[in-house]
Amino acid sequence: MCGIFAYLNYNVNRERRYILEVLFNGLRRLEYRGYDSAGVSIDTSHSLPPIVFRNEGKIESLVKSVYEEVASTDLELEESFSVHAGIAHTRWATHGAPSHRNSHPQTSGPGNDFLVVHNGIITNYEVLKATLVRHGFTFESETDTEVIPKLAKYVFDKANEEEGEQTVTFSQVVLEVMRHLEGAYALIFKSRHYPNELVACKRGSPLLLGVKELNDKMSNGPSRNEGHLHLPSKNGQPKELFLSSDASAIVEHTKNVLEFEDGEIVHLKFSISEVRLLDSGNSYSLIGSKFRYGMSDGGVSIFKFDNSKGKQSAGLSRPASVQRALSVLEMEVEQINKGNYEHYMQKEIHEQPASLTTTMRGRLIRGGSCKAKTVLLGGLKDHLKTIRRSRRIVFVGCGTSYNAALAARPIVEELSGIPVTMEIASDLLDRQGLIYREDTAVFVSQSGETADTFQALEYAKENGALCVGITNTVGSAIARKTDCGVHINAGCEIGVASTKAYTSQIVVMAMLALAVGDDTISSQQRREAIIDGLLDLPNKVREVLKLDKDMKDLAKLLMNEQSLLVFGRGYNYATALECALKVKEVALMHSEGILAGEMKHGPLALVDENLPILVIATHDACFSKQQSVIQQLHARKGHLIVMCSRGEAAAVGLGGSCRVIEVPQVEDCLQPVINIIPLQLLAYHLTILRGFNVDQPRNLAKSVTTQ
Ligand code: F6R
Repeated sequence: MCGIFAYLNYNVNRERRYILEVLFNGLRRLEYRGYDSAGVSIDTSHSLPPIVFRNEGKIESLVKSVYEEVASTDLELEESFSVHAGIAHTRWATHGAPSHRNSHPQTSGPGNDFLVVHNGIITNYEVLKATLVRHGFTFESETDTEVIPKLAKYVFDKANEEEGEQTVTFSQVVLEVMRHLEGAYALIFKSRHYPNELVACKRGSPLLLGVKELNDKMSNGPSRNEGHLHLPSKNGQPKELFLSSDASAIVEHTKNVLEFEDGEIVHLKFSISEVRLLDSGNSYSLIGSKFRYGMSDGGVSIFKFDNSKGKQSAGLSRPASVQRALSVLEMEVEQINKGNYEHYMQKEIHEQPASLTTTMRGRLIRGGSCKAKTVLLGGLKDHLKTIRRSRRIVFVGCGTSYNAALAARPIVEELSGIPVTMEIASDLLDRQGLIYREDTAVFVSQSGETADTFQALEYAKENGALCVGITNTVGSAIARKTDCGVHINAGCEIGVASTKAYTSQIVVMAMLALAVGDDTISSQQRREAIIDGLLDLPNKVREVLKLDKDMKDLAKLLMNEQSLLVFGRGYNYATALECALKVKEVALMHSEGILAGEMKHGPLALVDENLPILVIATHDACFSKQQSVIQQLHARKGHLIVMCSRGEAAAVGLGGSCRVIEVPQVEDCLQPVINIIPLQLLAYHLTILRGFNVDQPRNLAKSVTTQ
């Protein structure tokens, strides 16, 4: 929903301009998570409160306004800090319209005692706000977030009043704040009372720490020694630390990261005095794969929030510290750049031969001379027996992820012999639909963060189902919470409209069908044909991508239309829904995917010579029915565009009277992967021609972490 980012440099001189640029770049990387307003907070000088810059609009407009504001103050861009903690935020509005006062960092009030950037949603903010108002706080924003810095100030003031001096640590304040918060959040706190310190915590929303050791020859990636990460660290070693909602804002600085778990608090503390102390030999170390810090050492401390303990204790408790392992990001910087493309969506569409190859890598076993071809899904192998014994397989997802599951449903039913039920996550929750302990519930989510899907997962777990995750984000909330799963490995998807993740999701679910059905001798030939089809799929995708120019020409014809209907059935009902979703969300044109079998039950009334209708009629078991649909639409003078298998334009029977998109034919269950690609290109070109922002469509954000 929103992106949060922080940068802390320690024992290395960094100018204010450099610090700002690191924060802005972090935001640029996270902008796909929300782009209606943005803000940063940096230090003025060590004795004055931090300064906050906030702006409605995109990151570049924040950048412009910050430099303008700085020019009108006595802040010098060249002023240098040997330790400095800055925070930043890019917003997708949930509570309160995009505006200056609703932007983050949100503050505790004049003086900026506490500042917070937040990704997520605080569900009990109204109760907290009422309580804080009774204690004399005044609120200026409509956000749920504003209660957090105000609560921090309240906790801080109260603790110091009781003690008569400032004894409470920053992490103790945050721990106490966490105790009162309900909902999902990742938070980064900055405070004038704790200069050069940051505290972050999370529950439900993602948060990562990146560690870059500046004098370390291995700072581009730690070596592996017998399976352990090894990060030598010397006292006072200059370093840069980054906190971020996701890895895309960290990878250009370092690959050494730590993904936080729910309920963890991280305290980054490097005071000026500690710089001196550390220089004169105090101990501070990153040993082996573990963080081993105590508060007294300074540096990085990680604590676990335990609500039960805190409720019993009087006053502010000391959180229990935990040790965590660093991991190495597998992402490459090139993945998050546009390369030679103008837009991320365009790049991600054209990347599909490669992303599908990565999705399948190591998972399709061709077999020796007498050995059958088979599928190996490491994350599922210990659970296949349970899945085969399931009463139902229930696919759960939202938007494009739901459509991918719908596209895979027929092959999963066919090869597993188990009925497959489809559930849109929010609807499952609204209905409190039935989930049984004998069910296998499969949660499909590119981001692995979607709130509806995550809550449906919690619900299915409560009901005892085996929960399988299919996500593109290692370590995401859904990946962690599910009992087992498969990563789609499509690589980072930055365009808000999902494209390459969709095709990889379908391929993963086809592989899931193959794995579950692997013990059925009668379907062996079919399974081997699908495996051959999968192995050849990247080549076929390369072929279909050559339709780019044709799709641009079609987009020119359609760009001024009000609406586009898309008819599909069988394997390609999902393709119709997904095409319509893409056209709607990026080209901002009304579009509807229609199950062709339902045509006569209503939609036929819309047909006239003006409304463009795209019919998907590639060759499969439904082909003759689709031929009949085309004839009926034609008889009513429908303005038709037909997608058919290559060489079958004549068979669709319109004698050249309509526009045809010919695509390579593949195994029927893989055809949705091929068919969607020209339609993704169509949506892309329509958007550009209509003059809209293809990577950041109006009102949308990449991961929807609120319900
Ligand atoms: C559409 C799109 C959305 C997402 C949906 C679920 O292009 O991207 O419809 O598919 O918000 O998101 P994930 O897959 O992250 O759960």
